[in-house]
Amino acid sequence: MNILLGVTGGIAAYKSLELVRLFVKAGHDVQVVMTSGAKEFIQPLSFQALSGHPVRDSLFDANQEAGMGHIELARWPDVIVIAPASAETLAKLRMGRADDLLTTLCLATDRPILLAPAMNRLMWQNAATQENLEMLANRGFEIMKPGSGEQACGEVGEGRLPEPADIFSATESLVASLQPDPAWQILPEFWKGKHLLITAGPTFEDIDPVRFIGNKSSGKMGYAIAEAAAQAGAEVTLITGPVALKVSETIRKVSVRSAQQMFESVQENYASCDVFISAAAVADYRISKPKLQKIKKTDGQDDLTLNLVKNPDIVKWVAEQTPKPYVVGFAAETEKLETYAQDKLKRKNLDMICANSVSGGKGFEQDDNALLLLTESRQKNLLRAPKTRLAKSLLVFIAESISETE
Ligand SMILES: Cc1cc2nc3c(=O)[nH]c(=O)nc-3n(C[C@H](O)[C@H](O)[C@H](O)COP(=O)(O)O)c2cc1C
Repeated sequence: MNILLGVTGGIAAYKSLELVRLFVKAGHDVQVVMTSGAKEFIQPLSFQALSGHPVRDSLFDANQEAGMGHIELARWPDVIVIAPASAETLAKLRMGRADDLLTTLCLATDRPILLAPAMNRLMWQNAATQENLEMLANRGFEIMKPGSGEQACGEVGEGRLPEPADIFSATESLVASLQPDPAWQILPEFWKGKHLLITAGPTFEDIDPVRFIGNKSSGKMGYAIAEAAAQAGAEVTLITGPVALKVSETIRKVSVRSAQQMFESVQENYASCDVFISAAAVADYRISKPKLQKIKKTDGQDDLTLNLVKNPDIVKWVAEQTPKPYVVGFAAETEKLETYAQDKLKRKNLDMICANSVSGGKGFEQDDNALLLLTESRQKNLLRAPKTRLAKSLLVFIAESISETE
């Protein structure tokens, strides 16, 4: 793959040398474009030695223009990565400015652009920077979240350049997400006219009028599946816990808050569905008697006990019905992924289970994930990829598994 790496004027510019090394080691062809700010921090020669190409740094260099014009250079890469991306360059990109080679290339290309910002924590938090990022994200730029910790300026906070290995993975995921999945082509035939009922997001169990027990589910996986199924021609009903995600108008969305409400909505909708996917993170327990008034802090009372009672097991309930739809559950585990998933598949009499590891911050709240898909007779590992892509692969696997048993 051809990667154009933009390096801007930040203290973290030296870390991009490691990024070039990772790209080259993986067999990618890398060309580096430096801003004049970047050259204040690091010598172009280092990038030239690692990439095997002369560094490009000038928009108005007659020799360089003769060799390969900036328009030609803009067409060369499969992906453009800017790391570190300075606050200044983010502002220029947002404005659509083109007063140096890097920003001109970004305007003149139709290739995906990944930004890895790095800056002082106050520069990062500044409303101007945040507005610029929001605008760029809306325009389709892929933006990595910077790391947190001690900064070169001596302050502690958010704004560190993500680790080169993470920028490397994000680049590969971005490019992979743009490749069409060959199996996707067969999907519309299977899903057209099928009714998919899917739950997504967390449930909130109220303690009193202002407090609740929730969980970290972002709903992104379930929403991605709902969108992909709708694209494939399925009729989709999405029962969702409280999340701030939007869905296409073709999807019938039912918003609920608690596990009990989700259960009632599933009971109302399951009978007409062909496939039921339980992607929601449903609370296992709820408060037995939520207080009608806010619980007050009482002097001298150091402990407070909340009484919890078990919630209905929604996916198990659907799997017990006759006739029943094809039932797909999710298992988020922190250890022994396959063992626990196999156990859940059998114990709840599911047709399929999608297991994902949520140890070390993986899975929840992320845009990408890895899944292990299991049925009684089949197994498939879906490697780390954006949830939008995993959703399609999952729908392919469901279609294949149902077709096999028919
Ligand atoms: C020592 C030093 C460190 C800097 N580090 C950063 C940084 O980490 N991130 C950033 O956005 N700007 C940083 N700046 C400011 C940029 O270099 C400056 O805004 C420059 O105009 C960026 O231009 P460019 O994006 O065209 O490279 C730093 C400046 C100095 C003097």
